[in-house]
Amino acid sequence: MFGKKNKHLNYTSGPRDLIVSKEPKSPISEQYRTIRTNITYSSVDTPIKSVLFTSATPSAGKSTTAANVAIAYAQSGKRTLLLDADLRRPTTHYTFELNNQRGLSNAIVNDMPLESIIRETDIENLDVVTSGPVPPNPSELIASNKMAQFFKTVTMQYDMVIVDSPPILAVTDGQLLSKVVDGTILVTNVESNNRDSLTHAKDLLEKANANLIGVVMNNKKLKNSKDSYYYYYGNEK
Ligand SMILES: Nc1ncnc2c1ncn2[C@@H]1O[C@H](COP(=O)(O)OP(=O)(O)O)[C@@H](O)[C@H]1O
Ligand SMILES: [Mg+2]
Repeated sequence: MFGKKNKHLNYTSGPRDLIVSKEPKSPISEQYRTIRTNITYSSVDTPIKSVLFTSATPSAGKSTTAANVAIAYAQSGKRTLLLDADLRRPTTHYTFELNNQRGLSNAIVNDMPLESIIRETDIENLDVVTSGPVPPNPSELIASNKMAQFFKTVTMQYDMVIVDSPPILAVTDGQLLSKVVDGTILVTNVESNNRDSLTHAKDLLEKANANLIGVVMNNKKLKNSKDSYYYYYGNEK
């Protein structure tokens, strides 16, 4: 529905709710735009041009938030790239109904040219790079010089790069990625989170010298996404 090219195949996981695209006037979409605004205002002197979404534990809503915030940026006229750097449980290809045979992992391992892995979407100004096939050694790929080079190249080509990633308490990928982006946002599910794991995640990000710009409180209490709310609080340093 949202991907232009290579639609198809078997989905083991359904599309995420791209409410900002489907219902731009809804209060929930407004919340995502508020996140966008808060990112913009979190840094006055050096504009934030890349943002990592991570979480302490799985299923916090990182991928849902990253995709919707990416759409909010695209809608504001910024050339936006959504990069799926969750090389463990990637979902961006499901969300945008794209196949995942080409993506970040192949780009890094096989030196594939950027043009062959960047996918346009039906949403104006929004391109996507899916994870590519899940590699056996995700952290090694994420930490590689080739990844750094790849990231440098895409940030030069886009006004905003939104990066999806695995949970920070599980693996080091999020910490590694937090070093290359301008800002990091922790997403948490207010229903299932706990203070210790959030504090631990914050500590790990600080150790990595991440620029933690905020926390998204994702409330999944009302299962129907229409009735779910997102809240954003700036980081109180
Ligand atoms: N605010 C929300 N309202 C309703 N469903 C949500 C919300 N946030 C996430 N979900 C659902 O919860 C599941 C996990 O969300 P996801 O964004 O994939 O989390 P993560 O990337 O952190 O693992 C998905 O099925 C997603 O559609
Ligand atoms: Mg995810």
